[in-house]
Amino acid sequence: MSEQLAIHGGTPVRTQPFGATHDFGEEDIAAVSEVLRTGKVGKGSRVAQFEHDFAARHGVKHAVAVNSGTSAMHLCIAAINPDPGDEIIVTPWTSAGSLIGALLYNCVPIFADIDDTYTLDPADVEAKITPRTRAIIAVHLFGNPCDMAALREIADRHKIFLIEDCCQAHFAEFQGQVVGTMGDINGYSFGGKHLSAGMGGAVLTDNPVLWERAVLFGDAALPRANGPYAGRPYANYFLAPNYRINDMIGAVLLTQLQKVDGYIERKIHAAQEIIGQISDIGEITPQRVRPGDRNTYWVLGFTLDTDRLGCNAWEFAEALNKEGIPAGGPYLGTGREGPLYRNPFLAEPNCYGRSRFPFDYGRDKPIDYRHAVCPNGEALMARGFNIAMLPSLDEEDIRDISHAIHKVAGHYLTDK
Ligand SMILES: Cc1ncc(COP(=O)(O)O)c(C=O)c1O
Repeated sequence: MSEQLAIHGGTPVRTQPFGATHDFGEEDIAAVSEVLRTGKVGKGSRVAQFEHDFAARHGVKHAVAVNSGTSAMHLCIAAINPDPGDEIIVTPWTSAGSLIGALLYNCVPIFADIDDTYTLDPADVEAKITPRTRAIIAVHLFGNPCDMAALREIADRHKIFLIEDCCQAHFAEFQGQVVGTMGDINGYSFGGKHLSAGMGGAVLTDNPVLWERAVLFGDAALPRANGPYAGRPYANYFLAPNYRINDMIGAVLLTQLQKVDGYIERKIHAAQEIIGQISDIGEITPQRVRPGDRNTYWVLGFTLDTDRLGCNAWEFAEALNKEGIPAGGPYLGTGREGPLYRNPFLAEPNCYGRSRFPFDYGRDKPIDYRHAVCPNGEALMARGFNIAMLPSLDEEDIRDISHAIHKVAGHYLTDK
């Protein structure tokens, strides 16, 4: 007989709340206060310093800081300057923020399937390439790197761009190489991820042409002192929004950059401990990490054998939540509909008024996402659950999480 679950009126494993997601302390407060005292709160020296330091930490020439990860991914697309209707290959399992920029740039997302790393399957990427493909967006989901060697080789062979979405994967590594350094231009979110100022984002690139367009695109394509078009007559040189951040955000990003390694080490430790402590449960499989890769675990993701457990992933996650554990159910990253192509903005579609633009641009037959299928992705997503990896997790927290997972799995295995 298993322990009675909290969802059925039993005693929860955990009643104490878990700790903070980030350590915002006196040094962060002092850094922001200093900016305010100068009276110059716009985009200035703190943002410039952050761009310098963030690029240097990656050994990359250029960083451009912006106001969100969604904006950063928009900059990546704007930098490559595709034509309307160009195709961008992407995973179905990610935040819409990965491809909103592509859609705003009138591109058409084409979904390739994923494997048990929860990242793009290079063989399916290859199969989805057409003469209209302009780029691949490699999303390092939950902190786990894509197979960057295979994707780089495909991109180079087809002479298309490779863009990394590192929003969830700060300082993850593919075979010893830090993410954000293998794509042509690569985006980050600082809105609650490892490095966070509550908002913000950045792109990294070594390519001077992409950097120039990215900087201009984030700032209404205006010439600025020390910027790419410095000295030109003041004018908006092409269609571009304003995605700038200010020095208060820059100041927090700088202080948090000093702390991010500690957060990441503790997240990795907690994730590996939990994986070890529940390894006896054959019905729960962790996200596969390739030997030699470094997953920085924004969250810890698992796939459930729902047939053997006799419950679905929503029920499993809900039971864990009632045990006092911060667990998420299937589809983290996408809406409740699951794969991005099932979400109304694509499935209806609902992008530009009542038109089917850009899905019909220059095509005899519009792309219809109701027919999209990524079988592996759908199966993995529907059976997924995940645990938030907080840098504050201590050994007792880790034991509570493992205990709760055992308790819930034990219940479904024995008391069906
Ligand atoms: C993979 C991925 N890409 C893009 C984004 C968008 O970032 P933001 O929320 O900062 O706009 C997110 C945010 O969760 C994300 O997880």
